[in-house]
Amino acid sequence: MANKLNVAVIGLRFGMAHVEGALGCGANVAAICDCDAEHLREAGERYGIGEEKRFADYTRLLGREDIDAAVVAVPDQLHRELACAFLRAGKHVLCEKPMALTRGDVSEMIRASDESGRKLMIGQICRFTPAFEKAKELVASGALGELYFVESEYAHDYMKLVGGWRADPLRHGVIGGGCHAVDLLRWLAGDPVEVFAYGTHRLLPTVPYDDATVAVMRFGENTMGKVFVSTGCKRDYTMRTVIYGTKGTLICDNTSPEMTLFTVDETETTKEPVKIPVEVNSHNAGREFASFAEAITGDKPVLTDGREGAKTVEVCLAIIESSKTGRPMRIADSR
Ligand SMILES: NC(=O)c1ccc[n+]([C@@H]2O[C@H](COP(=O)([O-])OP(=O)(O)OC[C@H]3O[C@@H](n4cnc5c(N)ncnc54)[C@H](O)[C@@H]3O)[C@@H](O)[C@H]2O)c1
Repeated sequence: MANKLNVAVIGLRFGMAHVEGALGCGANVAAICDCDAEHLREAGERYGIGEEKRFADYTRLLGREDIDAAVVAVPDQLHRELACAFLRAGKHVLCEKPMALTRGDVSEMIRASDESGRKLMIGQICRFTPAFEKAKELVASGALGELYFVESEYAHDYMKLVGGWRADPLRHGVIGGGCHAVDLLRWLAGDPVEVFAYGTHRLLPTVPYDDATVAVMRFGENTMGKVFVSTGCKRDYTMRTVIYGTKGTLICDNTSPEMTLFTVDETETTKEPVKIPVEVNSHNAGREFASFAEAITGDKPVLTDGREGAKTVEVCLAIIESSKTGRPMRIADSR
């Protein structure tokens, strides 16, 4: 590794944010890869990455001694194949969310990371969204007291995105995009033990799954949660999130420049709300990559390893199953 992390980025649409993240934190982008020649050329030209570092076939990178880590930013269905290939070739991997679409795939990815001893980080990027980092800090500080209800939504109009790999029945909106809201609630409130969900399919005729789902969940004896996912919504993208505690309430999202905090005075009366300014950065790939790089260079655990990514997938799958069966689902113990 010498003194610089050498990284390959595979998949150059959202993956371009990772190229920027890597360059922004001083890593060396040793290779970029995309099987689409136009996407490869565009990324190469945009970031000044020469033709000798551009590849159409990721397998040509597996044996390269001068590559320490790979970012896997290809369609969800390919995460397992590429992540396992790079891990087994001795590379650390930052894999896009959702970790994978099936329990079998997440298990194999965890096994590949365990057996290779290489780090696997899942890009649950909301943990780097400035408003949500601040929310996590306020919860940990006790400013809200004990949490009794947490809710988050993933409302994102996919009308122009649907088709191709996103129309795969396995790529249900709850796991594809809703995994952001699920992961955020898990980060803030811990692991849910049971979920119950309803879904409707009214807005996106081109996908074979519900485009709106609401799930309620129980985290323990005294904490409840709710996730709403709409991928056909007629509004701007938002992840509006409200955190209710015994001493206060926080309202925030990933697209607003301020968050609203309610707390109580010494008589437990609700005070005037405080507006907290916050940077709007819903896709903070720079901080995410920096966190991955620091874990490797400092040999520390990554923030969201395979087991963490798998728990989020498990909750999403339970929500989808509940919405189909009409039954509450216990969340299976994470592997
Ligand atoms: N963190 C986020 O907020 C966020 C946002 C968007 C997408 N994503 C995730 O990023 C991943 C990519 O999404 P996208 O929107 O960029 O998809 P996309 O379909 O727009 O782009 C995927 C790219 O991967 C390339 N590709 C496909 N198979 C390949 C292969 N075998 N080898 C090399 N290149 C290959 C395609 O040619 C394409 O350029 C998905 O897992 C998605 O869920 C995450």
